[in-house]
Amino acid sequence: MSATSGRLQNKVVLVTGAGQGLGRAIALGFARAGAAVGLLDLNAATVSDVAEEVAATGAEGLALSADVSRPDDLRAAVDSLSRRFAPPVILVNSAVFARYGALADLEPDVIDRMLAVGIKGLLLACRAVVPGMITAGGGSIVNLSSVVSLRGIGYSSAYAALKGGVDALTRALSTELGPDGIRVNAVAPSAIPSPMSRSNLDELGWEERRRRNPLGINGSEEDVVSAVLFLASEEAKFLTGLVMPVDGGFTAAGMIPGVDIRKKQPVKHNHTTV
Ligand SMILES: NC(=O)c1ccc[n+]([C@@H]2O[C@H](COP(=O)([O-])OP(=O)(O)OC[C@H]3O[C@@H](n4cnc5c(N)ncnc54)[C@H](O)[C@@H]3O)[C@@H](O)[C@H]2O)c1
Repeated sequence: MSATSGRLQNKVVLVTGAGQGLGRAIALGFARAGAAVGLLDLNAATVSDVAEEVAATGAEGLALSADVSRPDDLRAAVDSLSRRFAPPVILVNSAVFARYGALADLEPDVIDRMLAVGIKGLLLACRAVVPGMITAGGGSIVNLSSVVSLRGIGYSSAYAALKGGVDALTRALSTELGPDGIRVNAVAPSAIPSPMSRSNLDELGWEERRRRNPLGINGSEEDVVSAVLFLASEEAKFLTGLVMPVDGGFTAAGMIPGVDIRKKQPVKHNHTTV
């Protein structure tokens, strides 16, 4: 088990999509908190690099090359992790295949792949770990959703459909698995620098997002890591079925065209009715 000490000491965690971006950052966050981490990704090369980064923190990690859309891959990965440490009691679903664009440009096979990884893969990962969590007396699942499930954002219809599905299955599974002591929550980040988001946003895009946040800052990987570790930990033992925005207030803010939400607005009338 891990040589480090932390609030998730000796917990066995499975992170999907751990080869890069948020999945990698989350896996390293768990390692720093003392967990033993199963690092699952389609990309065997990147995930084995992340396993070395985990080892450098003093924690233990196991690289698992698998496709979340294939049930046999997932079963084999969970078996390997269980043999090496113990069955995982925390699962983080971060793997994604995402494409954006106008509806007319979304090819049917791209839509199939997005849903196969983001919805089917997520359900299969839950199916693979839940029996072990029940035997252990409970567990915690944290899904990666997105603000795109909470606000209408153009040119992202397939991505919005899959993240809306993630929110719905988070609530459904929290209800179904609560009696077994398994909590199911999601985080919904706004744009966070990662290989995926960097390829979609230029400098102006990041600046535009910063301006639309009441806090006036863009988020970082560490902001998502903190939220995921909190939801996974015992500190959140009364929280389940939650979709938590990690977005600097982006989804809470009403956006009126032409109004800069960062500027103080003059009071023009005393309203008795709205
Ligand atoms: N980065 C952001 O701005 C942002 C914002 C909101 C939500 N999210 C969500 O956070 C999660 C991580 O996003 P990211 O930006 O780090 O993505 P990313 O594209 O950088 O990384 C995704 C990882 O998933 C892996 N993967 C893809 N298909 C797989 C499969 N079939 N089986 C196993 N692994 C597979 C990839 O190899 C890659 O390592 C996603 O669910 C994404 O929708 C990201």
